[in-house]
Amino acid sequence: MTEHKTERVLYLMVCGAGPADHIDVPVRLAQERGWSVHCVATPAAVEHFLDLAALEHLTGHPVRTGYQRQGQPALPRADAVIVAPATYNTINKWAAGIADTYVLTQLAELTGLGVPIAVLPFVNTALAANAVLHRSIATLRAARVTVLFGEGGFRPHPPRTGGRVMATYPWHLALDAVADGAGPQRR
Ligand SMILES: Cc1cc2nc3c(=O)[nH]c(=O)nc-3n(C[C@H](O)[C@H](O)[C@H](O)COP(=O)(O)O)c2cc1C
Repeated sequence: MTEHKTERVLYLMVCGAGPADHIDVPVRLAQERGWSVHCVATPAAVEHFLDLAALEHLTGHPVRTGYQRQGQPALPRADAVIVAPATYNTINKWAAGIADTYVLTQLAELTGLGVPIAVLPFVNTALAANAVLHRSIATLRAARVTVLFGEGGFRPHPPRTGGRVMATYPWHLALDAVADGAGPQRR
């Protein structure tokens, strides 16, 4: 796709859960809203879900899976960040201050910088029954991260039914949350 210098830059952080199979959906939605989309993926997303070549073609940018390598273009500064699908693993590790994937390291820095971040989890009711997830969400919200979970956001599905809710995964809520630079710190 054509790069427009005036486009705002959106980082789309992709974790290893089913909706990553449909990552073209939020990329296209974001592009329609004028974002230049740069995808950053966890190792699990790459291993189990993403077609990196197709995603690079769609966004017009390399998919970052680690630190910048020689010859690789630097990521432009982000105007906003979406983490979707956000896994149980990444949400809990991020809130606990663990930075052992490139996505987590970036999220730690971007949170510290106060860049608007919207998180759209994808977890089943069994994972969501763990108190640690709720503590992590509260920690991230206290850090001014918008976590779209519960009423008005993502609602967990019963185990082994994730495939059935894929079509209604509310990507648009994450885009709405970062629209017009309206990040959490402006609320
Ligand atoms: C096919 C498949 C489906 C998965 N679905 C989910 C899911 O819906 N939610 C979730 O939190 N983890 C899910 N996982 C597990 C995560 O991929 C796993 O916890 C991984 O360590 C996450 O790493 P990441 O957070 O760095 O992406 C799934 C794994 C596979 C292989």
